[in-house]
Amino acid sequence: MSKKIVIAFEGIEGSGKTFHIDNVSKYLKRKKIPYIKLREPGGNKNSEKIRKLILDKKSIFNKKTDLLLYLAARSENMDNLKKNFRKKIILLDRFNDSTIAYQHFGMGVNLDIIKKINNHILKSFKVDFTFLNIVNINNMQKRLKQRKKLNRYDTFKEKFYKKVQNGFLRISKNKKRYKIINSNLPIELNKKIIIDKIEKLLK
Ligand code: TMP
Repeated sequence: MSKKIVIAFEGIEGSGKTFHIDNVSKYLKRKKIPYIKLREPGGNKNSEKIRKLILDKKSIFNKKTDLLLYLAARSENMDNLKKNFRKKIILLDRFNDSTIAYQHFGMGVNLDIIKKINNHILKSFKVDFTFLNIVNINNMQKRLKQRKKLNRYDTFKEKFYKKVQNGFLRISKNKKRYKIINSNLPIELNKKIIIDKIEKLLK
């Protein structure tokens, strides 16, 4: 029996988190270990509608509206997440650290407000372990250039992503439940580091 833990993948654009979460999904499928995976913003019908609204290039919202929309999308995921909490492994492609890194460290929204609403939505649900994927800004730009479609949050200035990445690093500083993945290193090496860690976490 494997432990039913909640694992988040965080990081800025082009940091490889979606690639690694897909690789972990494949691993769990191969091992026939029950899991669910969802991305934020998004993850179900209503949250995906909110995702479209936030990330549409034509949308113009202020930073507080963005915060409320991200949290609204999260709120719509909570029934599903609570239903599966400790019953299946839960893989999250972004979660509350993204809100703190982007809306607080990146955009300057008040941290207490973010934490208050977030705690109200999450109640006792919590992330057990987080892979924080970091990337240098050159590699990030290279990877973004390869994308066919860019969304509203893919086109900020470099300075913004630096602030967000430093924010993620501050959130994770000296905390054991984070593993930093340096995505400037070869992908095969990082795949192994992550799967080795997953195997240990599930024991
Ligand atoms: P992604 O699906 O490519 O990661 O894009 C989602 C974007 O939304 C990304 O730029 C990060 C941003 N975001 C926030 O700003 N706050 C949040 O709470 C979440 C979940 C994502």
